Amino acid sequence: MSSPSSPDGAPRGVALLGSTGSIGRQTIDVLAAHPDRFRVVVLAAGTDRAGLEEQTARLHPEVSALGASGEDLAELATRDDVDLVVIATGGVVSLRPVLAALRAGKVVATANKETLVAGGHLVMPEARRLAAERAATSPGDPFASPLAWLRPIDSEHSAIWQCLVGESMASVAALVLTASGGPFLDASPAELAAVTPERALRHPTWTMGAKITIDSATLANKGLEVIEAHWLYDAPYDAIEVVIHPQSVVHSAVRFVDGSLKAQLGTPDMRLPIQYAMTYPDRQPSPAAAPDLIGAGRLDFRAPDTSRFPALRIAREAGVAGPWASAALIAADDVAVERFLAGTLAFTDIPRLLEAAVTRFGTTAAPAPDVEALVALDVEVRAAFASGPIGGVA
Ligand SMILES: NC(=O)c1ccc[n+]([C@@H]2O[C@H](COP(=O)([O-])OP(=O)(O)OC[C@H]3O[C@@H](n4cnc5c(N)ncnc54)[C@H](OP(=O)(O)O)[C@@H]3O)[C@@H](O)[C@H]2O)c1
Repeated sequence: MSSPSSPDGAPRGVALLGSTGSIGRQTIDVLAAHPDRFRVVVLAAGTDRAGLEEQTARLHPEVSALGASGEDLAELATRDDVDLVVIATGGVVSLRPVLAALRAGKVVATANKETLVAGGHLVMPEARRLAAERAATSPGDPFASPLAWLRPIDSEHSAIWQCLVGESMASVAALVLTASGGPFLDASPAELAAVTPERALRHPTWTMGAKITIDSATLANKGLEVIEAHWLYDAPYDAIEVVIHPQSVVHSAVRFVDGSLKAQLGTPDMRLPIQYAMTYPDRQPSPAAAPDLIGAGRLDFRAPDTSRFPALRIAREAGVAGPWASAALIAADDVAVERFLAGTLAFTDIPRLLEAAVTRFGTTAAPAPDVEALVALDVEVRAAFASGPIGGVA
């Protein structure tokens, strides 16, 4: 069986949550390029009414929704005519639709970080259950893998996924996440302290939404990706490495026990990982150009510097500490980036705020949070750090 069509061979029904954002618009490019394979059933956005109306007029979904709640999005994601749910929102609003969709046996492709950073302990068991059910009836089926049900869109996780196809996790020695290092790779501590939002929003290789662009500059994004990789691939933290690779051509790699290093290379174009997540296990022509190795000339790699970019260390430690800490981290990061963009927090105070939030909210002995607790924690962290000085760290 292949994934792109429904069992009757009709185009797969797609619910796209976050259609007006950076990932959402690129997903629409992919959908528009494959009208024979996909039918847009649901478009949902937050506040951009004009953008959603334009998309609705162009794609004729059954439903378009603006500013929907997590509960409403869950209802839309589990409609009978939806086969594939693409999560292109930021924030915890998507946790309910992801869980509901997986519980209803839908395929979920997610760019959203909260899905795994805050909710990995909730969503992965659902994906594993679906994979185990398929493995019991047809072992060797591409859908006998949890990654067929919860598909990563992030280019790094897509790269690792592509390297793992046909491999056994038992033969994996380490996952190697690459990071561009952002625009301040070689900046001194004094230069980092004086970074402005305008400078930080100029990413050297990728064009993305504002939040993830700032996260790339602090390396918080790579830290969140370490946590995502832990959940997606069931990999221990000490087997997840980060390598700085300024050209962003090698999207990530997997090292195997025999010493082989398998990497996926591509141009910095999110339409490729978005499309792979939608057409898996098939590959289809895409608008993304293949990398030009001779034109690139050289590819550089170096170790990350966690003394200048402590957010990477703080995120990894939060991942090791568990779901409360990583959920506090990602909520705090949203607040920190908002404050930095508003000019009320220095660039170098972003990691200080993250560490304060993880220390304050991440050290509870309470059982792992359910969705309600995650949503409540998100509100609490935001309220605690929305303004004023950052408490909790020297
Ligand atoms: N951009 C990238 O290249 C990239 C790469 C890898 C991973 N990611 C991750 O993907 C996620 C999305 O990133 P992005 O850069 O595309 O963000 P973005 O440009 O800020 O877009 C966010 C989208 O979510 C929508 N949204 C907000 N609240 C919603 C709600 N209640 N219901 C439905 N939609 C809602 C927004 O709608 P409005 O615009 O209408 O308010 C917008 O369409 C993030 O978690 C990010 O870290 C992004």
